[in-house]
Amino acid sequence: MSKGFDPRFMQELKQKNDVVEVIGSYVSLDRKGGTHWACCPFHHERTPSFAVNQAEQFYHCFGCGVSGDVVRFVQEIESTDFMGAVRILAARAKMTVPESNFDTEKAIEMKKKRDTMAAIMLDCAKFYLSNLYSGDSRAEAHLQYIANRKLSPSTVKKFGLGASLDFFSLPDYLAGKGYSRQDLIDSGALGETKNGKLVDFEAGRLIFPIINAFDEVVAFGGRLLEKSDFAKYKNTRETLLFNKRKTLYNINLLKKLKRKQPIKEVIMVEGYMDTISLYQAGFENVVASMGTSLTTEQARLVKRYADTVLISYDGDFAGQNADLRGLEILKDEALNVRVVPMPDGLDPDDVVKQGAAAYQKCLDAALPLVDYKIHALERKYDITKTEDKRRFIAEALQVVSAVESEAVKEDLLKKLREKTGVSYHALERDMQSGVKQLEIIAPKEKISETDSGADKLTKAIRFILAAKLFSEPYAKQYDIQSLPLSDETHIVVAQYILEREQNGERIRPSELFEILEESSAELNQILDLNYEDKLEGEVAKRFFEDSVKAIEKFVVEREIAELNAQYGKETDEEKRKMIAQQLSDKMKRRNQLKRK
Ligand code: UTP
Ligand code: MN
Repeated sequence: MSKGFDPRFMQELKQKNDVVEVIGSYVSLDRKGGTHWACCPFHHERTPSFAVNQAEQFYHCFGCGVSGDVVRFVQEIESTDFMGAVRILAARAKMTVPESNFDTEKAIEMKKKRDTMAAIMLDCAKFYLSNLYSGDSRAEAHLQYIANRKLSPSTVKKFGLGASLDFFSLPDYLAGKGYSRQDLIDSGALGETKNGKLVDFEAGRLIFPIINAFDEVVAFGGRLLEKSDFAKYKNTRETLLFNKRKTLYNINLLKKLKRKQPIKEVIMVEGYMDTISLYQAGFENVVASMGTSLTTEQARLVKRYADTVLISYDGDFAGQNADLRGLEILKDEALNVRVVPMPDGLDPDDVVKQGAAAYQKCLDAALPLVDYKIHALERKYDITKTEDKRRFIAEALQVVSAVESEAVKEDLLKKLREKTGVSYHALERDMQSGVKQLEIIAPKEKISETDSGADKLTKAIRFILAAKLFSEPYAKQYDIQSLPLSDETHIVVAQYILEREQNGERIRPSELFEILEESSAELNQILDLNYEDKLEGEVAKRFFEDSVKAIEKFVVEREIAELNAQYGKETDEEKRKMIAQQLSDKMKRRNQLKRK
């Protein structure tokens, strides 16, 4: 499918990017008969089971099952999205991406501006780097600092660390480069004084360039060399290039690592120094969230590189439940999350200073998120005291009851039994009555982003919308009005489908580009489902049915919670009976759905 592009453009793009040539530029291919073979770049193997079929222009790995066309391949290997892959392939074939749907005039202008800003940032990075080894006596402090923190010259080079020496040499240097004053200010690299002079706002600091997955310098973090009342780190403000929510420090090197070998898990730390020290000690699969509050965008970014995230935050992070709740974001993106326990008050940088083995020991002790939550509660309470023990049990049961898998629940309850000496059945009963209580007070809120079931629901809704959009026969009978929608994009898409169906008109997915913003990430998520025949065949049909069921389950649960709340408030005996009747009907329906 062409995603809003003229099909002729996509055809030409694929013709000019032969699947064998493109894949051959990433891995070495061996020709046997009509097929080219390689060791799969997407999973670890010694004997080639990755086959490229030139006649049909697609690849398939008999080892891990991945397959697709040339666009999909570039998407995967470059860890980018559909548009990113199209851009790369177009550049390779010296074609211009048509302006029609994606590149409006404004977008072209934005791109120009972006490129200028990236050029400015790169110049700054080079300047800072040259300061460090310029022999200027003011850089001695920076070099000393680097030595104190045990960073080797090759590490410094790898991360492009640099030195700011004063307020004015950077703006002076940039003045000779012919950039406009506005561009310099917009890049975020320079600040402005009250009387309009441009200054290096990182003056005197050690510079950490922040580089994106396309090797562009997008921002700087600058560290003070000495303790003072000023902020320890100063980061470039948000600009056209730098959106902190979407950025992970060291994603550039992670991408390079992934090209060499598949990455099983990514270590997520808080800080620049944690990242660099771990990398230097051989833990190259590390990125930093640059602070503790992870965002959904960062979670999605990691997901492109690995399925498991090891959270390795500072030691004092442990008992803070608020922070642990932030990690649900990762689970919502279907990432496996494990948390690395760290000694109190130490960060990964401190630990790895004692040697790689010391940090490896922490990694080996990593716990799945739920287990870690209980571990954190144990740290919070002293369960030799009766009162504390009760609180511990109550809070731990809440954690356990939120777990979906019955097997995991059982396992956790057994562990709680060992820890507290309370019998399994008592724990189980308390947990169940606790859950009921929660259901009654649960407000009928629309689905929030942190809701752990929300991810599943969103996926189900996306799939149904996609099946409808691409007129899959199995979706024909489904009434789109029964979807519980809260996402703006979903509502627009559903309305469009409904309108077309009611008027008996053809549904043309590409028309959505005219209704919605061209770059709508959510729309792309939906359209992506039509790629690689995900919507076709028996499996798709079954997935559709499962999605319909999941949604009905969600709706029924919500109705039950609502009725429960009504029941609690109602004083009139007759009405209470009516509500109770409705409740019992809904519960029956819920049980039916569970059994199905
Ligand atoms: P930390 O204070 O844990 O930093 O903040 P760190 O990396 O261990 O620093 P060192 O070891 O003292 O040099 C974690 C991260 O939070 C962001 C930075 O990205 C930092 O690396 N941060 C922290 C700021 O942006 N500004 C600050 O003032 C402090
Ligand atoms: Mn530190």
